[in-house]
Amino acid sequence: MESIRLEIDGKFVEAQEGMTILQAARGAGIDIPTLCYDERLAPYGACRLCTVEITEDNRTRLVASCVYLVEEGLVVETNSERVNKIRKMLLELLLPLAPTGPLESLARKYGLEGSRFTAEQTSCVLCGLCVRYCAEIKKANAIGFIGRGIDREVAFLPEVAPKVCASCRECFAICPGGKLASETDGVRFPISIWQSKQELR
Ligand code: FES
Repeated sequence: MESIRLEIDGKFVEAQEGMTILQAARGAGIDIPTLCYDERLAPYGACRLCTVEITEDNRTRLVASCVYLVEEGLVVETNSERVNKIRKMLLELLLPLAPTGPLESLARKYGLEGSRFTAEQTSCVLCGLCVRYCAEIKKANAIGFIGRGIDREVAFLPEVAPKVCASCRECFAICPGGKLASETDGVRFPISIWQSKQELR
């Protein structure tokens, strides 16, 4: 595999062909915040929190570092004013959905004490980590997205979840909003969640 040299935050970094900017940066000890990324899963590129600024051929633009592959001679800024402004805005938009836990810590890191926006506190930022973990790692497909647009949400699937979820629950640990743990209590888990959602429709 070919070796690729690029510059990240003024530091020359050696990466392998096929690596993403995020992987190259983390390999060099440079932190980039993420919400929908998990190294065990295929990149998804949904949250855009990993946005960085790249310059090539004297052209600067913003890309999601978890899906953008390294290129020879690429110049990357992970912490520029423009990048931080975008991350701060994204966090402010997401914070009302899940105001505690990882999102709260990230928001503080970017200087946010609260949000100017309001939204129903769903504890879900639609990162899809649970859905993809269940499909890609567990091969169970017991949880999925339902609805479209602003009605989009994750739900346990009644044909599969009752058979596999109670003995697994591995997706709970990777949920950045705490939705799964907060909605399940062992007694009504997991089928009642789906049923109650259906009753509301
Ligand atoms: S971590 Fe890259 S888009 Fe979410």
